[in-house]
Amino acid sequence: MGVLSPDTVRIVKSTAPVLKEHGSTIVERFYSLLFERHPEAAAYFNIVPTAAAGSGDAGGGDACARGQSREQIQRLSMAVLFYAEKIDALDTLGPVLDRIASKHLSRATPAAFYPAIGSCLIAAIGDVLGAAATPEIVAAWTEAYGFLADALMATEAKLTEGLASATGGWTTHAPFEVVMVAKEAVPVGKAASLTLRPTAAAPVTLPSWKPGQYVGLCLEATAVGGADADVGQPGASFRRTCFITSAPSDGACLRVTLVSGPGVPVDPVTEALMRLPVGAEVGVSPPLGSFTYDHPVLGSRRPSSPAVFVTSEAGVPEVATLVRQTLAAGRPVTLVRHVTTDAVAAAPAAEQLMGAELAAAGEAAEGAGGGHLSQVVVRAPADVAAAVGARAVADAEFFVASTPPTLAGEVRDALVGGSGVPVERVLHAGYVPA
Ligand code: HEM
Repeated sequence: MGVLSPDTVRIVKSTAPVLKEHGSTIVERFYSLLFERHPEAAAYFNIVPTAAAGSGDAGGGDACARGQSREQIQRLSMAVLFYAEKIDALDTLGPVLDRIASKHLSRATPAAFYPAIGSCLIAAIGDVLGAAATPEIVAAWTEAYGFLADALMATEAKLTEGLASATGGWTTHAPFEVVMVAKEAVPVGKAASLTLRPTAAAPVTLPSWKPGQYVGLCLEATAVGGADADVGQPGASFRRTCFITSAPSDGACLRVTLVSGPGVPVDPVTEALMRLPVGAEVGVSPPLGSFTYDHPVLGSRRPSSPAVFVTSEAGVPEVATLVRQTLAAGRPVTLVRHVTTDAVAAAPAAEQLMGAELAAAGEAAEGAGGGHLSQVVVRAPADVAAAVGARAVADAEFFVASTPPTLAGEVRDALVGGSGVPVERVLHAGYVPA
């Protein structure tokens, strides 16, 4: 990989404050340009009908072009800002590149889109900053984007090589069949779990995935029905990313859990996945994601220290397997749900998403000499410390899910700023807390 010129580093870094101010507007403009100029790119993204795009709490407000959720805009704006701030310390980008590259692999995004994404991003910076986007700034960002694109493509190639060389491994979407569909009990919205198994025709062997990992699902547009007119090109296939919620010991099948509200925009592709009948076929990516219990930061923790998982209601599938693994390791666990809906807050733990299942896993772990599980609900990040108690504040590691992306930043600020928890004890699944 080449080296960025010192002028580019200086100019890109100097644009960080303006990106902080206008980041979301630039990213909104970027998505409008991308889907106007390259409508075929839409099938890879979570596009929801415009009326629904901002309807979820985590979506956080207005709908914007082609139904991008507020959450998606936040993730990309945070990444662009993070890159501008770290442009003079690129050696620290490794975990971020891994995280983004894994997400791309789960969607099987073609590398051929990199130039299109770059020209739309640079055009969006120009449109939003107007005269402030001098030729020097545009040239610096063009060089910096090319550098980042090369680094991401190299990371994707390395990850793909690892996946391909695993026994029975596959790299894009292999055909799986639905062998079981289970509606999850939720007080608001909808949630369902699909149990998936490679079809007889699929030359793949399920690897032993790690708690905390996810897969990409690829669904033919015909299965989405009338919604394809809203969400992309007819004849396309749509992709979504879902957390695995079964244990690796489940063997030949894997289970994923899909959620539609509250806290996430109602999305026709997710809803179509939930409606799939037993026997239906869906493309499944290999298990991906590096926020797992043996993560370099997580793995070195003391075996007896308490662990606190903080998640939105929609983010429960993201932490479910990690919660089970931490309990099995003998650690006391508190699962804190940050909820914004009265009906969810008022529901007993057993009626919340996977509440009964996790309680049963807690009892089984405790019976086998593992840790004890407590489940609590909070209405605001500032309430987490009081909800988990003084012992956890003094001693626990806090693991914060990435849905919605702003939750990690809010929880970290409340714990570190408000309760004096050392920042290194607040871990988050995102690459940068907002
Ligand atoms: C240098 C270029 C790029 C950067 C910096 C970038 C950055 C990102 C980031 C930060 C995310 C969110 C990851 C997460 O969920 O944590 C993401 C997701 C994604 N990216 Fe990229 N990306 C780039 C190029 C591309 C290209 C070429 C495509 C091709 C279509 C693409 C398609 C996607 C898709 C489909 C997602 C998932 C979005 C969703 O959740 O709906 N990206 N990317």
